[in-house]
Amino acid sequence: MKTGLTTEILPAGPAANDAAARALAAGLLVAFPTETVYGLGADAGNATAIAHLYAAKGRPAFNPLIAHVADLSAARRIGRFDSQAIRLAQAFWPGPLTLVVPKTDNCPVAELATAGLDTVAIRIPAHPVAQAILRAFGGAVVAPSANISGHVSPTLAAHVDSDLAGRIDLIVDGGPVEVGVESTILGCFEAPMLLRPGGLSREKIEAVLGAPLARPPQDVESDDSQPLAPGMLASHYAPRAAVRLNVRDVTPGEALLAFGPAVLPGIEQAASVMNLSASGDLDEAAANLFGHLRALDAKSPRGIAVMPIPEDGLGEAINDRLRRAAVAR
Ligand code: TXA
Ligand code: MG
Repeated sequence: MKTGLTTEILPAGPAANDAAARALAAGLLVAFPTETVYGLGADAGNATAIAHLYAAKGRPAFNPLIAHVADLSAARRIGRFDSQAIRLAQAFWPGPLTLVVPKTDNCPVAELATAGLDTVAIRIPAHPVAQAILRAFGGAVVAPSANISGHVSPTLAAHVDSDLAGRIDLIVDGGPVEVGVESTILGCFEAPMLLRPGGLSREKIEAVLGAPLARPPQDVESDDSQPLAPGMLASHYAPRAAVRLNVRDVTPGEALLAFGPAVLPGIEQAASVMNLSASGDLDEAAANLFGHLRALDAKSPRGIAVMPIPEDGLGEAINDRLRRAAVAR
């Protein structure tokens, strides 16, 4: 791995976007904001840069990456879109949706980034900084979340810095992200399949498809040797503190991650309390999720207790990430 790099942090703007594009073209690693979470970008056609990216994150190479492009014509150079995939792309791109489609014959994404699969994951992000960098670079950029593999995803440039300083070349700071959980991943198979719940709710996708989405069998996700969405390892998004879900009380010394009105027995003995959304707004809760988990974890509590969160809208993605955070390692 390349260590001891000087990681430059630039505030987003025309100069930073151009610097980011030049760095990507030179095979360097650049973190930048998308509307979901910060991504760690590398030139999708540069296998050496991609190898450095896997090493910088400590990410297993069987876990493929999402290729980010600026528009649908660039997406169609990488993947084959049937009429259903086109419909989804037109409805939700740019935005917090990743589509898994068959590769094109001359797919420019390096094999290393697709882990030898016949399919490729593609996303057009909506964030203006991500858009500007992709346009200035002119090609596809593979970008996993910009955290050490298995850690909580970054929603601030400071999160990226604390995980990856000295391991990557540049961080473009575009302030806090809007959505706060990663993109929803849809497999564009015969029956479209929800591979990862995320920043676009199931309800919105089903409204466009006019049919319910298939879910992969639950046990596929807990088998780390054969992941269906290969990155969906059971233990993921993990803070250091043990996480306890759907709590009805607080044990002394635990930190509380609240949702809605925070009234429950033992709360006065909590080491600290943060509320995902006092008003019970799931979009606000998603935006706060990873930052609050990091902030509570930084105080080294005995554990993190999490109040119940409804499963509708972005609640499905929030609960998915919390269940992974709660898996003992
Ligand atoms: O919001 C997001 O999606 C962020 C931003 C930076 O775009 N990116 C992100 O990337 O979350 P990452 O690498 O943390 O997660 C990508 C997921 C992994 O679970 C990976 O296994 C899955 O996408 N994936 C990639 N290619 C795939 C494929 N061909 N088939 C199935 N799953 C795939
Ligand atoms: Mg990730």
